[in-house]
Amino acid sequence: MNKITLPVLKGMKEKHDKISVVTCYDASFARLVEKAEIESVLVGDSLGMVIKGEENTLNVSIEEMEYHVRAVKRAVKNAFIIADMPFGSYQASIESGVRNAVKLLKAGAEAVKLEGGEEIAGLVKTLTRSGIPVCGHVGLTPQFVNKFGGFLKQGKNDEEREFIFKSAKCIEEAGADLIVLESIPHTLAAEITRALKIPTIGIGAGNDTDGQVLVIYDLLGMNQDFNPSFLKKYCDLDKVVSSALAAYKKDVKS
Ligand code: KIV
Repeated sequence: MNKITLPVLKGMKEKHDKISVVTCYDASFARLVEKAEIESVLVGDSLGMVIKGEENTLNVSIEEMEYHVRAVKRAVKNAFIIADMPFGSYQASIESGVRNAVKLLKAGAEAVKLEGGEEIAGLVKTLTRSGIPVCGHVGLTPQFVNKFGGFLKQGKNDEEREFIFKSAKCIEEAGADLIVLESIPHTLAAEITRALKIPTIGIGAGNDTDGQVLVIYDLLGMNQDFNPSFLKKYCDLDKVVSSALAAYKKDVKS
């Protein structure tokens, strides 16, 4: 695989060549992701949950994001690296948003991901005009978990669907280069994908997006108790690791 850049990802949308994205937080997994020629790696703030063991993504700091981006960057040569702007790193002002986005780019990210619509359009405009590529994120935006009352599917009625569609359009118009559509109806994701020129990356949003993203631990089956309807598990890492550890312990004891 050659180096994946933004123009390459945009060209893939035009050619209807689906974009594969996975989250990644460390160099060991990043090496395997790179070997599998996955086109893009998302250093997601989901690390708050799957790495730190928190209940949601709200308690991730910009320093933690920088640390994980640096680790991933060391093992990735060709995949396009997107990094999440964590909660609190861009809500206060455009100035703080730019300062924190620059930190992630200096750590090795090639684009930053921000959650929201109209309320972040000014920041998206400033970032993209300053040469910092932006990936938007609409639908179930985990940093709004307290507003939503949980990790709940969005777009349940006409009003919500219109809000999500308008948010996606607004983020594209502000200059975003990509957008994540999370946990929304398939039909709405398809409609947004047709309406936008930038690639859409879906999670729990059906097959008609330009690409798909999954949390790496989820797709590898790391947690037997996490089984959302959209998740296809490609291996049972829970079982594999548990039996390897049991075999190791048995060897040590004997
Ligand atoms: O933080 C994350 O991993 C994400 C993806 C699930 C889209 O935002």
